[in-house]
Amino acid sequence: MSRLGGTQPSGPLRPLVVAGARPNFMKVAPLLRRMRERGDFEPILVHTGQHYDAVMSDGFFRDLGIAEPDFNLGVGSGTHAEQTGQVLIKIEQLISTQAPDLILVVGDVNSTLAATLAAVKLNVPVAHVEAGLRSGDRQMPEEINRIMTDSVSTWLFVTEEAGRTNLLNEGVPDSKIHFVGNVMIDTLLNHLQRARSLEGVLETLGVEPRAYAVLTLHRPSNVDDPARLQALFSALEELHQAVPIVFPVHPRTQAAIETQLGGTSPKLRLSPPLGYLEFLRLMADSRIVLTDSGGIQEETTVLGVPCLTLRENTERPVTVSEGTNTMAGSDPEAIKECFRDVITHGGKQGKAPPLWDGQAADRILDVLAVQTRIAR
Ligand code: UD1
Repeated sequence: MSRLGGTQPSGPLRPLVVAGARPNFMKVAPLLRRMRERGDFEPILVHTGQHYDAVMSDGFFRDLGIAEPDFNLGVGSGTHAEQTGQVLIKIEQLISTQAPDLILVVGDVNSTLAATLAAVKLNVPVAHVEAGLRSGDRQMPEEINRIMTDSVSTWLFVTEEAGRTNLLNEGVPDSKIHFVGNVMIDTLLNHLQRARSLEGVLETLGVEPRAYAVLTLHRPSNVDDPARLQALFSALEELHQAVPIVFPVHPRTQAAIETQLGGTSPKLRLSPPLGYLEFLRLMADSRIVLTDSGGIQEETTVLGVPCLTLRENTERPVTVSEGTNTMAGSDPEAIKECFRDVITHGGKQGKAPPLWDGQAADRILDVLAVQTRIAR
């Protein structure tokens, strides 16, 4: 931790805050906001450009009130190696010229791992927000990103107790682990009222409150195998006859529909990806959510909306033990059964897990303010 930036020991801390893909934006938003309000941090915001479409990126900055990034690395799409390698090279140059006090990374996307690796090799300490989550499934690219990022980070901020247990099991000293709650939920609680007052969202999609389902699907394990994707769509089309299913389609899934399924879209209520506020509104008023996303399992838990996770495992077990999440797996018959059960019986009630209270960003900044200064 020797190579700290060129700031005065008493001046504001200058973290390089890294965001690359859609699920990163709602995690950095409350941290950036509180940094600016408190005045003891002067963040340098870097967008790696992993996500770049207006709907996947710009709209989120607008909805969440995030300032224009100080730097955009413009990395874009590519293979895992290409994407990770591009961020690694470009962010190393930026760290060298900016000399930040620390790097702050969130989540588990390729940009998270690449920025971490560049920083530690330059002896810049790394704070990892949303550390310790483990699905146990090393086929998931995110699982590799999580394990590697956590193994070299200086501060590990966990959202649930399972995160601490996983890290301790991997030999991480307890002194590096801080249970702070969930920054994604800070953002949800900050914006829920605004989302609820949005007009026209349900009308445009032609659905009534509590009388529709929401579907998201983008994991390679679900969308990259045409037979599997087709079987899933057939089951969902059947369910759609009883309860309309609104499906905002992720670009990766759209590409899979075009290349793998000959362009035949599923007969569901399709929409392009939605903005943060529109999607929050859609989830909040839905009867049930079906997803393979990580963050949506958490958001539905806090909204009290039953969630069926279309995967065999979750890295967020508290959403099952305390929240509204049910692991529905990947078998279409099992998914149909879980869905019908929720529609008939109302689904799990659940409650918000400990410290998912809107204050996670401040807890993180309190730790960093004290510990980074000691290291200066
Ligand atoms: C990435 C993250 C995943 C996260 C997801 C949220 C990794 C390994 N995966 O997956 O953890 O849940 O973001 O969306 O980092 N594309 C566009 N426009 C964009 C971005 C992507 O059209 O703005 C298309 C491209 O065809 C691209 C594909 O989507 O090849 C996949 O994008 P990529 O960033 O590689 O991964 P995601 O599947 O989005």
